[in-house]
Amino acid sequence: MDNRSIGVFDSGLGGLTSVKEIMELFPNESITYFGDTGRVPYGTRSKETILKYTHSDIRFLLSHDVKMIVIACGTASSAALPEIKEEYGVPIYGVVDAGVYEAVRVTKNKKIGIIGTSATIKSGAYQRYIKEYDESIQTFGKACPLFVPLVENGHFDTKVTDLVIEEYLSEIRDEGVDTLILGCTHYPLLEKAIARYMGDSVRLISPGQEVAKFLRKKLNDDLRHSDVKDKEQYHFYVSDSVEGFEELGSIFLETKIDGQVRKIDIEKY
Ligand code: DGL
Repeated sequence: MDNRSIGVFDSGLGGLTSVKEIMELFPNESITYFGDTGRVPYGTRSKETILKYTHSDIRFLLSHDVKMIVIACGTASSAALPEIKEEYGVPIYGVVDAGVYEAVRVTKNKKIGIIGTSATIKSGAYQRYIKEYDESIQTFGKACPLFVPLVENGHFDTKVTDLVIEEYLSEIRDEGVDTLILGCTHYPLLEKAIARYMGDSVRLISPGQEVAKFLRKKLNDDLRHSDVKDKEQYHFYVSDSVEGFEELGSIFLETKIDGQVRKIDIEKY
């Protein structure tokens, strides 16, 4: 047994979509989550800044003696993880590998769309990994920078959301993709509206959720499970207001987290 917690971080709230899956799949695991709400968004920033933020987020989680780290942020996983993977003494997993694995598995016509923040699409990480699996797969990437503010403002399925979806996704839909990777951890909250626009024949893949399945193998092969089961199992930290995070976080997790979130100064790490 290894009762240390699993460290998870994101630039803000979106990583809670991964946390929810991890909680469901591994009810005995403790989780230490950091949402960098004071420095969000990462998706519009330069690679240097994303690397700097990712390093400090990892250092913060390591100060809590986590046994592994999940980067539940599409942007940090795409733009920073490939460079820093080996730098720390614990395993670090991102959402890209997990999302690509599933997308390549389900595509039939070998046309995969990828949507994410500007930094994610610019990094080309998803496209690269897909080609590593199968050179013949065609990829169609599109940055959707307005999706994150839509989610953060609760526009999960409104007329505004439909308009923005059409603006961003019409080209990818016209290309006839049969699989679409929601390459940003906020996007599962728009899943219903995106699915309606793309149609029944298109499979939507949420890498943030896939990463939990990916961990199952890792926990069995490389690490040990935990047998912790108590009220202190989950710890949430943020770098800005606790209230806003508790409110939206409860929507992401579909469970109340009031009183469980603490603010920290990430600049110290
Ligand atoms: N968490 C980021 C991602 O998954 C989205 C928000 C941001 O831009 O920081 O790419």
